[in-house]
Amino acid sequence: MTTGVGGAGVVAAGVPFVASFAPSERAKAVGAPVTASIAGLREEKLMTVEWRGKPVWILRRSPAQLESLQSQELHALLVDPLSHRAEQQPPYASNPYRSIRPEIGVYVAICTHLGCIPTYRPDVNAPDLRPRWPGGFFCPCHGSYFDLAARVYRNVPAPTNLVVPPYRFVSDAVIEIGVDPKST
Ligand code: FES
Repeated sequence: MTTGVGGAGVVAAGVPFVASFAPSERAKAVGAPVTASIAGLREEKLMTVEWRGKPVWILRRSPAQLESLQSQELHALLVDPLSHRAEQQPPYASNPYRSIRPEIGVYVAICTHLGCIPTYRPDVNAPDLRPRWPGGFFCPCHGSYFDLAARVYRNVPAPTNLVVPPYRFVSDAVIEIGVDPKST
């Protein structure tokens, strides 16, 4: 009997405790997927959306930019050109473009070194960057380089490629970030 009362008390006390951990509406909104229209996004242009408090880039790559990503010369300079590190992208983005569609790249814009936001530098052969720069991203905080698929170069402070978030195409012109394609 004593055991039964004590057990009931534990359960009763546990209810408000658990309830206090239920996510608030605001918390749910902060973690919710976000949609973005890419209808007006032109080739070689980048737009930024916020997802879970983080900046996320959407880049529309041009045919010339896509071609540059296949260069063996470039691959030799990268840490993980074929996206073997599974934690850096969902399986459907584990390819040389690190994306669902080759022309549209979606990347969390946070440097994998210490968290700065890299800058988009599509200007080929930029004199202030690496020799034979093919376009990509540069983190000015400590000098890390990433290519146009957000793959990190060797011998820079950042250890890994930028992260690809979960995302899907709702339509040709709308992307939803925070949701995998198969959860439609
Ligand atoms: S935070 Fe980007 S190189 Fe250090």
